[in-house]
Amino acid sequence: MISLALDNSKLAKTYDEISDSQYESGKKLLAELKVKPGETVLDIGCGTGRLGLYLLDIIGPTGRFIGIDPLPERISIANDNNVHPNAEFRTGVAEDLSFLGNNSVDLVYLSAVFHWVPDKQKALQEISRVLKPGGRIGLTTNAKELVKATTLRSVTTEVLSRVPYRGQVDAEAFAPTRHGVTATQLVELFLDAGFRVADVRVLAIERLYHTGRDIVDFAEASTFGNYLNHVPADLRDKARFDLESAFEILRGDEGIPFQLYTLFAIAEKIGA
Ligand SMILES: C[S@@+](CC[C@H](N)C(=O)[O-])C[C@H]1O[C@@H](n2cnc3c(N)ncnc32)[C@H](O)[C@@H]1O
Repeated sequence: MISLALDNSKLAKTYDEISDSQYESGKKLLAELKVKPGETVLDIGCGTGRLGLYLLDIIGPTGRFIGIDPLPERISIANDNNVHPNAEFRTGVAEDLSFLGNNSVDLVYLSAVFHWVPDKQKALQEISRVLKPGGRIGLTTNAKELVKATTLRSVTTEVLSRVPYRGQVDAEAFAPTRHGVTATQLVELFLDAGFRVADVRVLAIERLYHTGRDIVDFAEASTFGNYLNHVPADLRDKARFDLESAFEILRGDEGIPFQLYTLFAIAEKIGA
């Protein structure tokens, strides 16, 4: 099970400091969504608010921004960093947007969030309800069909299949794709919720990390403590150390290459 109770101020602060790669990919998503000044925008799973604060410069003072996230520590950082009176950061989940009226939002985005949402059907129904006719939704999410080809999953599975973890860890409980979707499932979900799919792509992304520790730190902060939660508690420190060492073995001339595959999608609420 994914837990929302494992986050803490250290993980939240770490995420805010080392989430540059997700921040950059979020900026690309916003560019393709062609955000305009004056729009009302909902950021679901806004985390510590970095992307929302970037977006506020685009929508300007006549726009309205609402960012929601279930983790209070992350919302607290977002509020501390916010200087815009037309922005609101609050705790909440994708499945309950009852604080927003019907047909009231121009654009909804979920940057690196959808794979965490347990009830995707409900979330898309809610998003469809609050979007104006013709309103857009954009998201990036882990590509479930390619999870085994990612560096994080392949190295984690290899390390946790060794003694003493063997037989004690279920590789399928791997948090980042526990609730993930394939491209086909994503398109079906959009269609069922009344959207027209404008774009769906798989992006192959390669990052470079300085150290194995940086990779484990990022995995823990971006999963809000769930990365090694499927490892028995008495083995977690050892697992962390073994994983850091395993990532180090991949080191090339420029750093440690780290492959991932992201689904990138844009859809519109039918009825413009
Ligand atoms: C990897 S972070 C992405 C944060 C931010 N969007 C970014 O691009 O940096 C994933 C976020 O999804 C949030 N999340 C988890 N379950 C959620 C749900 N049911 N509804 C909305 N957000 C959720 C987490 O709290 C976390 O902040």
